[in-house]
Amino acid sequence: MKVLVTGGTGFIGSHVVADLLEQNSEIVVLDNLRNSSREVIDRLRSLASTEFDFIEGDVRDTQLVREVIATHAVDAVVHLAGLKSVSESVRFPLDYYDSNLVGSIALLNAMAAEGVYRLVFSSSATVYGSPESTPITESHPVGRVENPYGRSKYFVEEVLKDLVASDKRWSVAILRYFNPAGAHSSGAIGESPKGTPNNLVPILTKVALGKMDKVFVYGDDYPTVDGSGVRDYVHVCDLAKGHVQALDYIFSESGLHVWNMGAGRGYSVMEVLKSFESVIGKSIPHEFSGRRPGDVAECWADISKVKRELGWKSDKDIHQIVQDAWRWQSLNPEL
Ligand SMILES: NC(=O)c1ccc[n+]([C@@H]2O[C@H](COP(=O)([O-])OP(=O)(O)OC[C@H]3O[C@@H](n4cnc5c(N)ncnc54)[C@H](O)[C@@H]3O)[C@@H](O)[C@H]2O)c1
Repeated sequence: MKVLVTGGTGFIGSHVVADLLEQNSEIVVLDNLRNSSREVIDRLRSLASTEFDFIEGDVRDTQLVREVIATHAVDAVVHLAGLKSVSESVRFPLDYYDSNLVGSIALLNAMAAEGVYRLVFSSSATVYGSPESTPITESHPVGRVENPYGRSKYFVEEVLKDLVASDKRWSVAILRYFNPAGAHSSGAIGESPKGTPNNLVPILTKVALGKMDKVFVYGDDYPTVDGSGVRDYVHVCDLAKGHVQALDYIFSESGLHVWNMGAGRGYSVMEVLKSFESVIGKSIPHEFSGRRPGDVAECWADISKVKRELGWKSDKDIHQIVQDAWRWQSLNPEL
């Protein structure tokens, strides 16, 4: 199979590319480098013996995407390209709807025009909004989302549902990620967002390097193990494997398939922080701050459906996540 990976130089995309190359899959990467850099391509090439093409371009450019699909005889797409910051999406909603929703529709148009009907789509547990119960199953209501980022993912899911219902040739996997974190065990690729990180693990590594002063812990009075919020952290390499398995699946099954991609267990912010401190052997400055509006006490994935249907589960625990994230960041302090 020949796979087009959009957003393939980003955090999750680069790990998906590394995994596909390890399986000797033929791939082509499309990314506009808005939140990543060309250097990732060199690093991916150094990891793999298989060659691949990189095209700097935008998924909203339907003509370009059509040319890429046709020239490379693509027969499936993993669509990770998009913007991912909840707070930024509140300030720049049009930018988010344009990149995430318009971008996805443009890609789907290009795929249909070139006769390619297999897609793995990066969605998010954000589509569940404030969960009514935890662990969250895929049948939990979606759409009651309070920010443009989450709504953009929800809208794309709805578009995909309508598309698959309208044309039986489509075979689509929607992957709802929980909290991807960690890095490749080589230390060659990892998370290096442009600007200030929003997620706990990259914040911890930046504080450890002295690039940020401290970690703010939002809420110390939740009814959880230690009062801090509990989330589901999934190792990015496990997540990448999930994409490869989802691709295999959609080659044999048509229709729409929705799977949670989480570890299936939660860790509190303080548990993650302590695990990180044990890895680096020093304490991390942190400060408790009030609860943030919209945050819930705890949330993690029910992964029984993805285990049953795809045979996927996450193997790496929080210790492995913070260890790999630290290896990546300490080997690449400038990133
Ligand atoms: N990291 C998370 O916590 C998380 C959680 C849930 C879902 N997701 C989704 O997973 C996907 C990948 O996330 P990530 O963490 O790797 O983010 P990332 O920002 O590291 O990667 C996204 C990549 O897409 C590229 N891109 C953005 N807009 C583009 C466009 N219009 N055309 C072409 N390329 C474009 C960026 O340059 C970047 O390389 C995103 O769609 C994100 O919304 C991420």
